[in-house]
Amino acid sequence: MKILGIETSCDETAVAIVTSDKKILSHLVLSQEKEHKPYGGVVPEIAARAHIQALDSMVAKAMEQAGVKSYSDLDAVAVTAGPGLIGGVIVGVMVAKAIASAASVPIIAVNHLEGHALTVRLTEDVPLPFMLLLVSGGHCQILSVEGVGKYKKLGGTIDDALGEAFDKVAKMLKLGYPGGPKVEALAKDGDAKRFEFPRSMKGRAGCDFSFSGLKTAVKRVADSIEDISEQDKKDICASFQACAADIIEDRLKNAFAMYDGEKRLVVAGGVAANKYLNGRIQNIANEYGYSLFYPPLNLCTDNGAMIAWAGVERMRVGLVDDISFAPKARWSLY
Ligand code: KG4
Ligand code: ZN
Repeated sequence: MKILGIETSCDETAVAIVTSDKKILSHLVLSQEKEHKPYGGVVPEIAARAHIQALDSMVAKAMEQAGVKSYSDLDAVAVTAGPGLIGGVIVGVMVAKAIASAASVPIIAVNHLEGHALTVRLTEDVPLPFMLLLVSGGHCQILSVEGVGKYKKLGGTIDDALGEAFDKVAKMLKLGYPGGPKVEALAKDGDAKRFEFPRSMKGRAGCDFSFSGLKTAVKRVADSIEDISEQDKKDICASFQACAADIIEDRLKNAFAMYDGEKRLVVAGGVAANKYLNGRIQNIANEYGYSLFYPPLNLCTDNGAMIAWAGVERMRVGLVDDISFAPKARWSLY
């Protein structure tokens, strides 16, 4: 089975063709970083326009690279139908519907978060069920993944997502966009003990998150330093990252106590690319006897292969969609 996957929910135009026996036949990601850089964050209208300009030719290129001659040689088209910036989601969904209807192949409306959740199964044999820590630019949740399409929430952020906090800290320190990788790089040479930021929710029951107090505390420190030096920035990044890791660690401990499934933890979403956080999560997983899984680095951030793969998984259990489905800006997994 060969499935075309299309992802346009944020600032990456991404297309891939993936097979049910786990081969990635093509995998193209076009970042809109340059378009959004002057604004320090993603501008929805610019994103939608950039998806329109790029998507057709990227689909053609993905088909060619995969050696798939005609759309009717595909077994299905899978597309991110939400959640995300609605202009971009509409662009992807319209193109996917056009291809699926012209070629008379099934269409699968994929929840972007399910794409992140299941990616690890494309590259490794991770059986269901598992616990999922989903940390991206828009989401921060701990879920119990019971099956394809079957999710239960254990906890989630009550304010900012973790990736969003990384991006905002980067913006405060004028490090550029997207912020996560830049904060991580500076943090490497910083003193994580120099600033004591608040470990929000620490010690509280449940496994909800809060990052807005941390973000505000970072802003206060950054604003209070006159002529901020490179070393100051490195120390702020290191202190911020260590604080974020402490919060994650504390919340995961509670999640482990609440979860009664198999002791498997999957970490997914853009922030799963952070090596420092991963190291900290590995320690806590070891302590509690959990096996830990991550998608490979190039599949952590948004891509088409994760959408195509979620399409494979959904199709296997008969979850195809009627072509009349609507794109959604908001769409919960549970
Ligand atoms: O999953 P993703 O590509 O898009 C969303 O669905 O949101 O995640 C993007 C987020 C951004 O906030 C970005 O700053 C963050 O993931 N990110 C990182 C790292 N790489 C990407 N955060 C921390 N450390 C990283 N290395
Ligand atoms: Zn994402």
